[in-house]
Amino acid sequence: MASWKTTLLLLTLFLLSLFLEPLLAEATIINSIDGGMNKGCIEVERKALLEFKNGLIDPSGRLSSWVGADCCKWKGVDCNNQTGHVVKVDLKSGGDFSRLGGGFSRLGGEISDSLLDLKHLNYLDLSFNDFQGIPIPNFLGSFERLRYLNLSHARFGGMIPPHLGNLSQLRYLDLHGGDYYNFSAPLVRVHNLNWLSGLSSLKYLDLGHVNLSKATTNWMQAVNMLPFLLELHLSHCELSHFPQYSNPFVNLTSVSVIDLSYNNFNTTLPGWLFNISTLMDLYLNDATIKGPILHVNLLSLHNLVTLDLSYNNIGSEGIELVNGLSACANSSLEELNLGYNQFGGQLPDSLGLFKNLKSLDLSYNNFVGPFPNSIQHLTNLERLDLSENSISGPIPTWIGNLLRMKRLVLSNNLMNGTIPKSIGQLRELIVLYLNWNAWEGVISEIHFSNLTKLTAFSLLLSPKN
Ligand SMILES: *[C@@H]1O[C@H](CO)[C@@H](O)[C@H](O)[C@H]1NC(C)=O
Ligand SMILES: *[C@@H]1O[C@H](CO)[C@@H](O)[C@H](O)[C@H]1NC(C)=O
Ligand SMILES: *[C@@H]1O[C@H](CO)[C@@H](O)[C@H](O)[C@H]1NC(C)=O
Ligand SMILES: *[C@@H]1O[C@H](CO)[C@@H](O)[C@H](O)[C@H]1NC(C)=O
Ligand SMILES: *[C@@H]1O[C@H](CO)[C@@H](O)[C@H](O)[C@H]1NC(C)=O
Ligand SMILES: *[C@@H]1O[C@H](CO)[C@@H](O)[C@H](O)[C@H]1NC(C)=O
Ligand SMILES: *[C@@H]1O[C@H](CO)[C@@H](O)[C@H](O)[C@H]1NC(C)=O
Ligand SMILES: *[C@@H]1O[C@H](CO)[C@@H](O)[C@H](O)[C@H]1NC(C)=O
Repeated sequence: MASWKTTLLLLTLFLLSLFLEPLLAEATIINSIDGGMNKGCIEVERKALLEFKNGLIDPSGRLSSWVGADCCKWKGVDCNNQTGHVVKVDLKSGGDFSRLGGGFSRLGGEISDSLLDLKHLNYLDLSFNDFQGIPIPNFLGSFERLRYLNLSHARFGGMIPPHLGNLSQLRYLDLHGGDYYNFSAPLVRVHNLNWLSGLSSLKYLDLGHVNLSKATTNWMQAVNMLPFLLELHLSHCELSHFPQYSNPFVNLTSVSVIDLSYNNFNTTLPGWLFNISTLMDLYLNDATIKGPILHVNLLSLHNLVTLDLSYNNIGSEGIELVNGLSACANSSLEELNLGYNQFGGQLPDSLGLFKNLKSLDLSYNNFVGPFPNSIQHLTNLERLDLSENSISGPIPTWIGNLLRMKRLVLSNNLMNGTIPKSIGQLRELIVLYLNWNAWEGVISEIHFSNLTKLTAFSLLLSPKN
């Protein structure tokens, strides 16, 4: 879960920088209001906000600044500096991510439709609050100028109202149903996703943890109506159908992030996915993906940075994927996770071609043979996990040249020989697990004197001995 939180934080920062320039520009404007220019806020909008406040439960007094004549000065409210209209309401809870985990400042209660008087609203963020299972209000679909809507992690329940499909200006929609604080949260559901076609300007879509099982046969058709989409996040959505279209059908010509992890596709990877040349991050972990990987035109994936296929059922033939990727990924790949599959055979030498690889996880597979020499070319490697395979022979002494290494895990293989002193050169090492191999010789202080950052180390002897 920790990595989920990190991803979330990174995503948020990334998105703020990428998609919101127009909104941010507008937000900066607001702060430039000063005495002379400030006409205060528009009375009907001030009243609308007060009514909205009255419907909310605010145990920690987050809205205590919501008093007085100028609602543009209220915390979480921003106005256009020329017209004075409220353009942004940002009541994200725990916006300071370092405080996440407590949840003490979450708003609840009802969402008054008085908000509709904010006719110039283009940004609404109610994420990380606690609405205790009430449905997302239908009237949110009536904000004609809305460009940003974030209701994620706010414990909404019931059906997502198809009215949201009227938000034709929307660029960013996050309805992630997961609850940060309470995992027994009610799951948001949909009847279908046909309403998505109205969101023709959408760049970012997150329906993670929304129960899409009713839409499982045509989710892709719905998403395919969003030609400007840059990020698609459909993780934990109970999807069980991964359509195998031919390429001309696929409209997603700019998409850079696809996250379909934690679904139950029970199928092979469709070829169209590998034809999206703009793709940078592809997450398909724990999605019941099977081998073989057929008809894959890997040459298109020359921008791929992250590929996570861990926790699937991809067999030994999948290694062609690695060979194919290495030939064409243009060294862009930084993170490759194939852990928890049934890959077999020798580790391919082509691994050495991923010059920018920072993280390589091949754990819990059936790899055999020696530690491949090609890995010595991966000088950017920070994390290497080959545990739970049948890799044999010694740790090569060149391991000491991978100077960026932070996490080296070789547990439960068939490795033997002495542990090379050169491991002592890996000054950045934090985690070193060498358990359950047939090591010989003596480990001395020399190995560790320079490893001042090492916090986790273990070297139990092999039960296979
Ligand atoms: C509004 O903000 C913009 C951009 O910061 C600035 O150029 C403009 O002068 C401001 N207008 C007023 C009336 O303050
Ligand atoms: C998801 O929705 C389907 C159909 O509406 C239902 O059968 C299933 O139990 C739901 N899943 C969860 C985890 O609630
Ligand atoms: C591609 O997107 C456009 C615009 O949203 C839509 O009209 C068209 O039907 C889509 N094509 C397919 C094959 O879905
Ligand atoms: C991928 O793109 C190529 C070239 O445009 C095309 O010939 C091929 O049919 C596409 N593959 C799939 C599975 O869509
Ligand atoms: C997965 O698909 C196979 C056929 O390809 C089928 O026999 C099996 O029952 C499916 N498993 C699930 C969980 O749907
Ligand atoms: C590979 O990267 C280089 C440098 O970043 C770039 O010039 C080249 O066009 C890329 N090739 C492909 C096929 O993307
Ligand atoms: C390591 O194991 C291999 C067999 O897998 C054996 O041939 C070799 O002699 C062993 N090396 C050492 C140093 O024990
Ligand atoms: C530790 O660092 C010192 C100084 O850089 C170096 O002389 C020594 O060889 C290093 N020890 C090991 C085991 O790498």
